[in-house]
Amino acid sequence: MDLGIAGRVAIVTGASRGIGRAVAERLCREGASVALCARNRESLAEAQRALEAIDGGRVLTVEADLTEPAAAGRVVEATAAAWGRIDILVNNAGAARGIPFDELTQELWLENLQLKLFGYLRMARLVLPHLRRNAWGRIVNVAGLAGLQPSTLSMPIGLNNAGILNVMKALADGEAAHNILVTTVCPGPILTDRQTRLLQDVARTKGTSLEAAQSEATSAIPLRRMGRPEEVADVVAFLASERASYITGSLVIVDGGLHRAMI
Ligand SMILES: NC(=O)c1ccc[n+]([C@@H]2O[C@H](COP(=O)([O-])OP(=O)(O)OC[C@H]3O[C@@H](n4cnc5c(N)ncnc54)[C@H](OP(=O)(O)O)[C@@H]3O)[C@@H](O)[C@H]2O)c1
Repeated sequence: MDLGIAGRVAIVTGASRGIGRAVAERLCREGASVALCARNRESLAEAQRALEAIDGGRVLTVEADLTEPAAAGRVVEATAAAWGRIDILVNNAGAARGIPFDELTQELWLENLQLKLFGYLRMARLVLPHLRRNAWGRIVNVAGLAGLQPSTLSMPIGLNNAGILNVMKALADGEAAHNILVTTVCPGPILTDRQTRLLQDVARTKGTSLEAAQSEATSAIPLRRMGRPEEVADVVAFLASERASYITGSLVIVDGGLHRAMI
């Protein structure tokens, strides 16, 4: 299926590794120009080399720590300066930790909301004028199942994701008149560096091994395996595309059947 986004300009946050990198690659293969941001210069440069090797791949990298409020502005300005427009934002950079409730100080709660919930909001606010100007836009947010399924082991993660689901639904309502479609994807466990860190947190809290934590997590998934970043990227790219022209305010779950609720 041709996604109809050749020539569109996209920003993908947290795009040097994991899900974000897979999304950036998928958008590049569809002919979009893609701005990648992350903190580490070397991994950004490595991602850029790989994506530019794709036929016609047009890539810009911006080194940015999105926990810093000013960083979002630099990413948006650099993208608009390079290509003169912005059509698609994929909010993906997130790194909240699984911290037991008793250890969660006020500072830790705030620290854990800075990158994902507040970072997604900052990016959305700054790209909106560009999307409105074109009367076409897509904002796709990568949230997570913990936003729907609270767990004592992942409260800061759950709060980030539940907050994103709530505000992005409201944003979808507000921006529909501008033909800006806002959607959220909730992945289940996906094989990335972050998943390894989360399993380490679970193993530490439960006093088990990493292997035991991984095996327990996998046994609860009907498809009996964790997902691959590309399996999330395909859904994100579709939602970011022309083909998803009648989908807004929606949540799409990509989790191998893990989530049990019907509504
Ligand atoms: N993996 C899963 O099982 C899973 C499940 C549900 C939801 N998710 C969500 O999916 C998203 C991506 O997760 P992932 O597993 O792909 O993570 P990952 O493998 O750890 O990759 C995270 C990416 O974000 C960048 N990043 C981290 N902190 C940043 C910051 N402060 N400023 C800018 N960029 C930053 C990283 O690069 P640098 O470190 O160089 O900055 C990297 O490119 C997250 O929002 C996560 O919550 C993941």
